[in-house]
Amino acid sequence: MTTPTERPGWQARVADARAGREAASRTRVRRSVSHRDGARCKVDGQSLLNFCGNDYLGLSQHFAVVNALQEAASREGAGGVASHLVCGHHEMHDALERELADWLEAPAALLFGSGFLANLAVLQSLLDEDAVCVQDRLNHASLIDAARLSGCRLRRYPHGDPEGAIRQLRSLPEGLAMLATDGVFSMDGDVAPLRQLALVAKVQKAMLYVDDAHGVGVVGPEGRGSVAEARLGVAEVPLQLATLGKALGGYGAAVVGDADLVGHLAETARPYLYTTALPPAQAAATLAAVKLARADHWRRTKLQELVGRFRDRALRVGLELMDSDTPIQPVMCGADAQALAMSQALEDAGYWVAAIRPPTVSEGRARLRVTLSALHGPGDIDGLVDALAYARDRATPRDPARVPQPVE
Ligand SMILES: Cc1ncc(COP(=O)(O)O)c(C=O)c1O
Repeated sequence: MTTPTERPGWQARVADARAGREAASRTRVRRSVSHRDGARCKVDGQSLLNFCGNDYLGLSQHFAVVNALQEAASREGAGGVASHLVCGHHEMHDALERELADWLEAPAALLFGSGFLANLAVLQSLLDEDAVCVQDRLNHASLIDAARLSGCRLRRYPHGDPEGAIRQLRSLPEGLAMLATDGVFSMDGDVAPLRQLALVAKVQKAMLYVDDAHGVGVVGPEGRGSVAEARLGVAEVPLQLATLGKALGGYGAAVVGDADLVGHLAETARPYLYTTALPPAQAAATLAAVKLARADHWRRTKLQELVGRFRDRALRVGLELMDSDTPIQPVMCGADAQALAMSQALEDAGYWVAAIRPPTVSEGRARLRVTLSALHGPGDIDGLVDALAYARDRATPRDPARVPQPVE
């Protein structure tokens, strides 16, 4: 037997990768929150106003949501116990699935442990080596990884470009086809041109799958998301993803849409079959959150007012924004080190805004991903804009190794 003397050690690989990240201002560290109170949180003993979470409607700490969680956990326990098809499926899951399907005007819904898992499930169970999946270049990492794992032919088109999508589909006319896009783009905050993409999908006989992780609860009539906002339904978008951990303030995800497709996922999707069910108490909490998201229109109205206020003031002081009217309002910084320096200056002033750098975004497109929540007030927005302008003018990149860096 030959000895693999040439095989590199994993320690060297890890050390090299770390050195590369340090040299490029791309190390990532976790920050531990010791307490959350509305939009404020305590980090390393300092109280910070949080402008980088996804709790858009401010439901994660809502009394009714927390109460539902506690109540259900005290009756049913804390865990999921088993996978859904063994003995983990609970009436609370059924109730939440029915509520989500009713809200999003679809025949069926299926719960997953997370949005990442749900995307893996949809693509793996519907696509194989003969299939093609066409995706927006800025789609979430989970959609890209899902296509790779399915083994299908993956093609990407320029961001928000239906012409690009149709070109890609035309170039691969054989095999089952899926056109997959984020509804609201997680790092840019803009909305996909869903009506045009629906037309492309129809002409090319492709299934349109919309990952609306950041849209459901926030945009569209009754907060029904970007698909409803585009006046589309199950006929045009047979499946869509709603995450439960963002606007709905909980954890997990649901794939919502055509009953046959949802049934197919429930019986064949590996990330559904071979994982523990979402704890029923979490489903009960999200059920309470969905009811609030449906009824409390004021949360979306307030968010829209805050978005308008932020954009007006930020543009007035010359900050570079993106073309977004959702609560995701990136402030462009260019260089990674500048984004980190601004993030640190904001933290010194009491604001928490994560610096987002490649590979999460493209080279030269580092940014502060500002996110707004119904928990914020107008004064919070004004203070943040002042601090952003100050940070842009005064922050100078420091030794990246010494700057605590928010994780993305
Ligand atoms: C567009 C998009 N899809 C999917 C996900 C994954 O969702 P989850 O956090 O529930 O795994 C995210 C989360 O960041 C996202 O932004």
